[in-house]
Amino acid sequence: MECIQNITKELIFVGTSDRRMALFENVYPIPTGVSYNSYLLLDEQTVLFDTVDRSVADQFYANVAAALDGRTLDFVIIQHMEPDHCASLEGLLLRYPNLTIVCNAKTVTMMKQFFPSCDFENNCYVVKEGDILAVGKHTLTFVMAPMVHWPEVMVTYDTTDKILFSADAFGGFGALSGNLFADEADLTSGYMDEMRRYYTNIVGKYGTQVQTLLKKAAGIDIRMICPLHGLIWRTGLGDLIDKYTHWATYTPEENGVVIAYASVYGGTENTVNILASKLAERGVKRIRMFDVSVTHPSYIVAEAFRCSHLVFASTTYNAGIFVNMENLLHDLAAHNFQNRTVAFIENGTWAPTAGKLMREIIGGLKGVTVLDETLTVRSALHPSQKESLEIMADAIAAGLTQTVEETVAPANANLNPAAMFKLSYGLFLLSAKDKGKDNACIINTVTQLTDIPKRVSVAVNKSNLTHDMILSDGRFNVSVLTESVPFDFFKQYGFQSGRLLDKFEGQDGIVRAENGILYTTKYANAYLSCTVIATVDCGTHTLFIASVDAAEVLSDEPSVTYAYYFAHIKPRPQPAPEKKTGYVCKICGYVYEGESLPEDFICPLCKHGVEDFEKL
Ligand code: FEO
Repeated sequence: MECIQNITKELIFVGTSDRRMALFENVYPIPTGVSYNSYLLLDEQTVLFDTVDRSVADQFYANVAAALDGRTLDFVIIQHMEPDHCASLEGLLLRYPNLTIVCNAKTVTMMKQFFPSCDFENNCYVVKEGDILAVGKHTLTFVMAPMVHWPEVMVTYDTTDKILFSADAFGGFGALSGNLFADEADLTSGYMDEMRRYYTNIVGKYGTQVQTLLKKAAGIDIRMICPLHGLIWRTGLGDLIDKYTHWATYTPEENGVVIAYASVYGGTENTVNILASKLAERGVKRIRMFDVSVTHPSYIVAEAFRCSHLVFASTTYNAGIFVNMENLLHDLAAHNFQNRTVAFIENGTWAPTAGKLMREIIGGLKGVTVLDETLTVRSALHPSQKESLEIMADAIAAGLTQTVEETVAPANANLNPAAMFKLSYGLFLLSAKDKGKDNACIINTVTQLTDIPKRVSVAVNKSNLTHDMILSDGRFNVSVLTESVPFDFFKQYGFQSGRLLDKFEGQDGIVRAENGILYTTKYANAYLSCTVIATVDCGTHTLFIASVDAAEVLSDEPSVTYAYYFAHIKPRPQPAPEKKTGYVCKICGYVYEGESLPEDFICPLCKHGVEDFEKL
């Protein structure tokens, strides 16, 4: 008996879930099961997006037949040749022998390997990047996505309904239980934990390739994402892509500490318990502890991708690292673990070696900072070593800035946020350079502080790459924007992340100042080159106080103000054609769907807070 559901009028979910399997890919525990998604498009011609795993094939065949309702199947698009999605291809061809298989050249090669006794070649229609398939009302465009997660992977964009069929990307562990769609709550729910675990363990190694796909996706209007595992996304897409951007660029999602430990008789465990309590005493809220002998490494890898700091503590075993810890560390290295701060604790009753060996595996990974010396415990922590733990806790806590909860403003009946809109601002392009990379963002916070000597301040959101670059390099340029600046300029520099692209590429009027940092001469009437002399942590932002080293007037055109931008440059947000309940960002037009806007919500596109949203 079939079990199918409509996603749109013409698109039907024909996949199904497996709750019996213990280990996905025979490696990863899936206590909540896994879904194998397949979608059938009923147009003038019928199109199936991928098949399913062998274990659920019978249900799948019944679903396809029921959804077709007597029609024949014209096309199956094979986006990913891994058997969890294509094992049912042979059975499908037996049922629909005139079926055309739409795939790329690499898929054909794999098809012959997986099904050596079948001759599929006469059924194949080979496509490449940008090719389209018109099947009636719907036009499908094929986009290659190599190594997300295998080399033959491609995704498909339905330009008619603006649906991205994303293959493994945006998938997650967990069987589907009736409801096919994710909602905003799933961005922070246990489902997101399983999405993160799926991403980091399955695709985590291929961050560069995922970034390439995200760049391609940034150029298209996506209203719905249909992955091959897990929930379908049609809301919160900006936040979802923001998660993927963090994961693909190996950027921590949050300031927090993962403590992974291997302990045989409790001495190591006791040591990390004391460390955790000392971190808590210092105000660190997000501390996650894992006994590597108890927790499967896939969960710890996922948390390692989430958090900024990690502590690895291992007893010495067979003159090496305890086996489960060694496995975890190699697993992290294999998944391209990088850009984190780590500390090591070793234990050894007669010849401790685990610390040195752990450091050899993790210490040399890209962007990994190792804190101070390894703490060596001899059987059990000696009272004299408490001071060493205090120092380690100090070093870790010092690297953790305020948590999101701490930055949420308490309700204040005497504070009308609308009053803040009466302040006047200019608009500026803030540019920086660090480790050979150029980047810039739009800000409205440049203020002259003193005339002799000439000093300015700029406040920059901590989530901006430009912020991190200024913090690292200590210098920046400011271009004062003029009233002729078009909205596209704000889209170019303000609504996308420099972690994914070179914002200056292809832009006119870009000049490198004497300090080596780029600035724009187009749409600007002046520029300043500055050196940071002090910073103030303001929670969500850092205030940089800087001396002005160089400055020049570029034109006499009036400077653009925030008020002018709203009145003359920013297009009015276009409400979606269907009636929506939600809030629209007055800065960039991003729409948050939902009855109420969380008070700590930050626009995923332009990073403005709730005060810049208005009800639809
Ligand atoms: Fe879900 Fe890479 O297969």
